Amino acid sequence: MDKRQFLKTSAILGVGLAATPSLSFCSTGTVAKPALLGGPKAHPGDFSGWPLQDSTEEKALMEVLNSGEWGRLGTAAATKGFEQGYAAMLGVPHVLGVTSGTSALYTILGALGIGPGDEVILPVYTFIATYNVVTLHYALPIIVDIDPESMQIDPVAMEKAITPQTAALLPVHIAGSPFDVDRVMEIGKKHNLPVVEDACQAHLAAWKGKKVGSFGIAGAFSFQASKNLNCGEGGAISCMDDNFFKSCRSFHHQGQGANTAAFSAPGEGIRGTNVRITEFQSAILNAQMTRLEAQAKLRSENAAYLSKMLNDIPGITPAKLYKGTTNSAYHLYMFKYDKTRFDGMELDKFIAAMNAEGVPCGTGYGQMNKDDYVTGLAKNKHYLKIYGEKTMNEWLERNHCPNNDKASSEEVVWMFQTMLLGSKTDMEQIAEAMRKIQKYAKELKNT
Ligand SMILES: Cc1ncc(COP(=O)(O)O)c(C=O)c1O
Repeated sequence: MDKRQFLKTSAILGVGLAATPSLSFCSTGTVAKPALLGGPKAHPGDFSGWPLQDSTEEKALMEVLNSGEWGRLGTAAATKGFEQGYAAMLGVPHVLGVTSGTSALYTILGALGIGPGDEVILPVYTFIATYNVVTLHYALPIIVDIDPESMQIDPVAMEKAITPQTAALLPVHIAGSPFDVDRVMEIGKKHNLPVVEDACQAHLAAWKGKKVGSFGIAGAFSFQASKNLNCGEGGAISCMDDNFFKSCRSFHHQGQGANTAAFSAPGEGIRGTNVRITEFQSAILNAQMTRLEAQAKLRSENAAYLSKMLNDIPGITPAKLYKGTTNSAYHLYMFKYDKTRFDGMELDKFIAAMNAEGVPCGTGYGQMNKDDYVTGLAKNKHYLKIYGEKTMNEWLERNHCPNNDKASSEEVVWMFQTMLLGSKTDMEQIAEAMRKIQKYAKELKNT
């Protein structure tokens, strides 16, 4: 599929399209001026829109519509097809479709019996959902720092945060790149703690040849509109363990039918809710899955090409991939910006200059541990009742993350996955935009 058919800029990044392509090199071969200084754009700005679709989606949806089986409790042909297909892609025995990535995580923690008095450890650099699912169970979210080279959870900080109250580890494969799976799993094993993989951004990412979502007690995936596998809203749980899978299945279906394939079987004392996926969601996922592997391959090839070029630009460093990484999903392409190599130009100006070049990018997550929304937990009446004021004040003190403070505010830049669905020329133009900006940083700084 030709991305230039999709003359629709990523709504997620909210960046407008450039009207005409342009050249970043002058005819003399010298580097052209940056667009912010009146030069031509490095890229026409026509990166792929998202989602991509064709008649496959329409056909799959119409089949569900006309079948009259719209929910999971009927024949569930589309859902069963999706669960089997995605399980085969991940190389796991079990996949359970659910309504979102958040509900996948919430269900896993529920099936683990996480509740008041328990502590769950998660990284600071993540989407707020990773934190919210812990508080929804009235457990204490313990926020730990990241490895600033990768922006992934720092295993040392994670191990240090373990206390007798720790009930689970909740690391995140952020940006779709695996965290240090070997070290995290080793710590989980050493302390006899379940590892729940937040793989919401990491469809088909792999560690030493095995897909993420197959290492911990369970993995959670999101199919929200921006994700590499997308049905608007949706999610899935991947699981290697037969019994734990039954607990997840039961929790997601009002605590019913724990030990049987029949959804109508009575509950067995486990708590529960309804986060069942619909047949419409599964139909779209089945259609989108027909392209997932080819898209993942293209993203990886383009990311490798781009990283090779960016590594040659002083002050630009692609986010580190750990040695065991055999594939990143590249939901986001993250790189670090060092302003000292750009004449001291602040990150915001760099981003404005990149956007002007037709290359959409932005800063990513901030400092979740300092958000009012998060610190307010220390004053939440239920938390004060469960944990007491002293513990909640100590909790505020525990959440310091100096690596993240610096990296998230001064250094990290995101580009969105659709930009990696383009051509080698697109990658060359992205790199060229940075070279132009670097060359003219002194002038740009003062605009
Ligand atoms: C790391 C991470 N965890 C959890 C979620 C929650 O997924 P959803 O939006 O499908 O509920 C997301 C979604 O953006 C995410 O990126």
